[in-house]
Amino acid sequence: MRLVVRLATSQDAETAIALDRAAARDAHRRDWLRQAFAGRHGRVARLVFADDAPAGFAVVGEFFGHPFLELILTAAGFQRRGVASALMAKIEQDHLDQRLFVSTNESNTVMRGMLTARGYEPAGQVDHLDPGDPELFFVRRPTSS
Ligand SMILES: CC(C)(COP(=O)(O)OP(=O)(O)OC[C@H]1O[C@@H](n2cnc3c(N)ncnc32)[C@H](O)[C@@H]1OP(=O)(O)O)[C@@H](O)C(=O)NCCC(=O)NCCS
Repeated sequence: MRLVVRLATSQDAETAIALDRAAARDAHRRDWLRQAFAGRHGRVARLVFADDAPAGFAVVGEFFGHPFLELILTAAGFQRRGVASALMAKIEQDHLDQRLFVSTNESNTVMRGMLTARGYEPAGQVDHLDPGDPELFFVRRPTSS
């Protein structure tokens, strides 16, 4: 399977929405994705294609002046085939000399496993966003810091 990651634009928003089951039932999420893909608040969206088929996307925003991976998603049918890893590798490459932050729910063992495998370190947690399921923060630091 050939994976190609590219920067996305507002014209790609509906493609991302079609990949995202949560967006199908959540108007707020659809609106957020449209704004993110339009680059609102400096966000940068990327799409990944698997043999030319849209397979996932990621949105990087800002967190206290640092890049922050706000959302990464692999579409159903493409999971566990390296799609998210391809996105992560591209994002990490674009922020090699920065501290790159990301967060996920404690219950998201898949995401946590991927972050740990990629060398991310715990950076704290925020409670009471999703009651009973803390938001765990991770950071990938440049090797020099
Ligand atoms: C988390 C997510 C993006 C991973 O995407 P993916 O394309 O399946 O991930 P990859 O195939 O690149 O796998 C990367 C690593 O993640 C971990 N992983 C992926 N799927 C896994 C699974 N089912 N069980 C355990 N670990 C898993 C592994 O460490 C894997 O590396 P490995 O295959 O070398 O062991 C995907 O599961 C997803 O879209 N989840 C829903 C959205 C979400 O939770 N996003 C994160 C919060 S923003």
